[in-house]
Amino acid sequence: MNSGIIIFPVNQVIESFKMIGGVKELLQQIKDKAVSNREELEAFRLEYLSKKGKVAALFEELKNVQKEDRRAFGAELNNLKNLAQSRFDEWAEALGKQGGPSAKAEPDFTLPVPPFSYGSLHPLTLTKKRITEIFSRMGFDVADGPEVETDWFNFGALNFADNHPAREMQDTFFIEKGKGRDDVLLRTHTSNVQIRLLNNKKPPVRSIMPGRVFRNEAISARAHCIFHQVEGLYVDRNVSFKDLKDTLYYFAKEMFGKESKIRLRPSFFPFTEPSAEIDVTCFICKGKGCNICKHSGWVEIAGSGMVDPNVLRNCGIDPDVFTGFAFGMGIERIAMLRYDIKDLRLFTENDVRFLRQFSGA
Ligand code: PHE
Repeated sequence: MNSGIIIFPVNQVIESFKMIGGVKELLQQIKDKAVSNREELEAFRLEYLSKKGKVAALFEELKNVQKEDRRAFGAELNNLKNLAQSRFDEWAEALGKQGGPSAKAEPDFTLPVPPFSYGSLHPLTLTKKRITEIFSRMGFDVADGPEVETDWFNFGALNFADNHPAREMQDTFFIEKGKGRDDVLLRTHTSNVQIRLLNNKKPPVRSIMPGRVFRNEAISARAHCIFHQVEGLYVDRNVSFKDLKDTLYYFAKEMFGKESKIRLRPSFFPFTEPSAEIDVTCFICKGKGCNICKHSGWVEIAGSGMVDPNVLRNCGIDPDVFTGFAFGMGIERIAMLRYDIKDLRLFTENDVRFLRQFSGA
């Protein structure tokens, strides 16, 4: 029979009473609180809303309360917590609008600016820019061509014999082989753009063509499998070897200093005839002889020559009407001379200690 008497364990009943008292008290405290600045607001948060605060402590007590009461007390505690939170939010908003001492203040424009570190252009970019600038003053425009190229544009049209050793695997990265002039490869020089230009444009053509080139070489301080060149091409009526010499002389003076002289040494390229290597007086030792110029007083900067009639013919240009000169120079080489850089690998290592030295250059 149900006697109507429920027997609770005494300690749990006591806990329930404590809980009723605790909730009531906190409710009153929270209602009575007033907050007038950020510090007081933070104190309120710590006292009531933080993990170690009073509301959390009551939640902690919940497990000691008798089972039947837990749900009801849980709901009471949630109300308490919501009240504390909404009061907190109200005050926080009011203080934010007022702009209390540590509220989000207007920026202080009188404060000193922290030092700002600008990035710097890569030495190869700087060198390319300088080269472009000098040639554009002489009326050269800038042209671009593909890095992935066919055998015809990289070799064939440039008058390379079919069995020319430069095609061999040790020099050229082939992508597709066995298709003759349609073999696909990574261009080994920027001279491919000469052909692309002459195919698409009637002379006069006066362009420089900076770009990346690829050769199957072991990486060392003096060689890399990826490097940069600037090609130059001028085709028109009556372009002479003297024009080539004058152009490169002007370039050397602008690039390396007014006292610079150039020297032309006979050379051979399949696509130029006659051909010449261009040396410039060593601007480090001014021709006296140093490590950079290997004590010769001269450093080599470019290959050049008069465009071979066969190249013009391959592009549908009549060599009896038009002549031209071409040159190609290594950007790394010029940058190394310009900035006294001794190891080619520095250009691709991206070491900020190296790169930072060129800010403002
Ligand atoms: N393409 C040649 C090289 O890579 C350079 C060159 C360009 C020579 C144009 C003559 C004329 O070495």
